[in-house]
Amino acid sequence: MNACIRAVVRSAHYHGLEVYGIRRGYQGMIEGEISKLVPGDVANIIQYGGTVLKTARSKDFMQPEGRKKAYAELQKHGIEGLVCIGGNGTYTGAGIFYEEFGIPSVGAPGTIDNDLYGTDFTIGFDTAVNTALDAIDRIRDTADSHNRLFFIEVMGRDSGFIALNAGIAGGAEGILLPEVMSDYDDLIRHFEDKSKRKKEFSIIVVAEGDKEGNAFEISDKFQKRFDGYDIRVSVLGHIQRGGKPTANDRILASTLGNAAVEQLLAGNANVCVGVVNHKVQITSFKEAISLRKSIDQTLWTLAKTLAN
Ligand code: F6P
Repeated sequence: MNACIRAVVRSAHYHGLEVYGIRRGYQGMIEGEISKLVPGDVANIIQYGGTVLKTARSKDFMQPEGRKKAYAELQKHGIEGLVCIGGNGTYTGAGIFYEEFGIPSVGAPGTIDNDLYGTDFTIGFDTAVNTALDAIDRIRDTADSHNRLFFIEVMGRDSGFIALNAGIAGGAEGILLPEVMSDYDDLIRHFEDKSKRKKEFSIIVVAEGDKEGNAFEISDKFQKRFDGYDIRVSVLGHIQRGGKPTANDRILASTLGNAAVEQLLAGNANVCVGVVNHKVQITSFKEAISLRKSIDQTLWTLAKTLAN
């Protein structure tokens, strides 16, 4: 997100616009945490995870009174347009704010989960996948040395993009995703056959939102069925949400920050920017909120094929 903030500030400055940073999202907007940003203020942040502007979930912005206060704060600084980094909740709030006060917003997709429509990748996803992959590689050393089966849980409350990509890149023998209903049964079938093959260790990647349960629940169930395996569970958790962003993420975030400023300059509102097939794509908030990005079937088939 820092790379995106940097790009918004630098791009706006390039186009002769004045920029303000709003700390803690909509909550900070309501509480007047707004200050001017010049290009020098965003120097030396591109390499850091998280966001220098901080973030917050704002219940107050869901209320008309809160939005009224936010509008009053924007007026104090003469702010005429917003770039909002976030997901569906952020886009929904921005859309309502436009209807009520006419302040145009352009959204940039910021979530590690990659579950936003209108972009192939969201800001943070590539870094999260690479962080999970690094952990999987390390865990594999123990799995291999001790002949163990590991269930590794990655983030993804409602979606399995991290699990699928980290699973394929990490050579997982099984991948469990919320989007695929039969994945646990497939895994069982696979291991029933596998007992004939006598492969000695295995990595199974589980998205936290899998319908079968979390990694501990799934591993318990699995152990009851296959009592011969020495099983361990590892939950990667919030380490996936931080750290040095990858080059791909920095480039994506820079591209989208710049594109968001260009959209505001072009007079657009209620849209979000994304990159689809290597090109910037503009999607209305309405579409981005209502449509669901689906798992890439080709990747899913690849995962199954290679796990054999
Ligand atoms: O950003 C989305 C997400 O990474 C989910 O996959 C995960 O369940 C959630 O965030 C965790 O959020 P929190 O930090 O509020 O526990």
